[in-house]
Amino acid sequence: MNPETEATMLETPSLTQPPEDVDTDDCLSTYSYLFSPDVLKDRVAFITGGGSGIGFRIAEIFMRHGCHTVIASRNLQRLSEAAKKLVDATGRRCLPLCVDVRQPQTIMAAVDQALAEFRHIDILINNAAGNFLCPASALSFNAYKTVLDIDTMGTFNVSKVLFEKCFQDRGGVIVNITATLSYKGQALQVHAGTAKAAVDAMTKHLAVEWGSSKVRVNSLAPGPISGTEGFRRLGGKWAESGNLFDSIPLQRPGNKTEIAHSALFLASPLASYVTGTTLVADGGSWLTSANNFSAMLGHWSTEVKQDK
Ligand code: HXC
Ligand code: NAP
Repeated sequence: MNPETEATMLETPSLTQPPEDVDTDDCLSTYSYLFSPDVLKDRVAFITGGGSGIGFRIAEIFMRHGCHTVIASRNLQRLSEAAKKLVDATGRRCLPLCVDVRQPQTIMAAVDQALAEFRHIDILINNAAGNFLCPASALSFNAYKTVLDIDTMGTFNVSKVLFEKCFQDRGGVIVNITATLSYKGQALQVHAGTAKAAVDAMTKHLAVEWGSSKVRVNSLAPGPISGTEGFRRLGGKWAESGNLFDSIPLQRPGNKTEIAHSALFLASPLASYVTGTTLVADGGSWLTSANNFSAMLGHWSTEVKQDK
């Protein structure tokens, strides 16, 4: 290889190198722009579950690109603390609002409040979800229903309210955060797997029905993402200590900033002709990751015993 080319290759980070992230629900200490900093200038995004994990980082990255945000979930104290961090780091506005996505009245009240504050909403990120490891045989009827109510019903409820109160007249973008769990029937995940598969189906139905109102609807399916509640609950540390992430084609878990960048692409005009599809952002994980029922069951029973 020509020495000049070799030197340039050594200096240039690879195109699979992850951007900076922090494992806590705090803003990034430094940020290097890859997209235009104005790509979402003066847009407003309504982000369910935006007070923690992936939703928090999506709020931060959107705000760093000029967007104002509404972050909505059940725990108002955590949301208010998150909003303060987001405003301090980005200088954009952030409105924390109490919502249970299973209760349409709370969504309607929150959307009215958000519209009173911002006059319009352009983007909806359906990110709120509930999950835990549990084999189907140990799952109560109510546990299964609870996860479907939050993930599937919640996504429909918030989408319908925003469509009727806002997107129907002025267009908009919806990004549904789903998962790859159903692609291979992931062990101990029948509840979340079926809930997210239903959301991927909903994405297609709503894209077809709402396209003529200039609404784009897409799913974004992350793989294992470090520094999140999902990672903690679904055995991320256990997988890491057993070198299970070596089997992922990109050989590592993802980080929250990577998912936020994918959400930014889908929400932005760069994706103006993209609707009704699922963007899988998982390092190729679902193609190769282990799905060993007895090993997962062993891990789950150890965890359950430790909790007692
Ligand atoms: C089995 C459980 C359980 C567990 C709760 N339940 N936790 N069953 N194993 N670990 C059962 C309860 O016993 C009850 O059934 C029913 O579920 C409802 O429980 P509640 O606590 O009353 O529900 P609620 O207060 O509404 O809380 C919802 C929740 C909770 C999902 C259970 O954990 C939550 O609020 N989670 C939000 C945060 C979260 O989960 N983040 C991770 C998202 S990660 P009974 O029969 O006793 O009444 C994610 C990753 C996807 O989604 C893909 C990753 C690759
Ligand atoms: P998280 O921080 O626990 O995020 C879930 C959020 O949902 C919380 O902020 C929670 O806030 C909110 N929420 C839960 N129930 C709600 C309800 N009934 N009404 C309103 N809000 C509710 O977990 P995360 O790991 O970042 O997950 C974020 C999203 O990514 C989820 O959709 C998840 O399925 C998806 N995902 C995560 C991973 C991963 O590796 N982490 C992988 C694939 C997909 P409150 O408690 O305040 O309500």
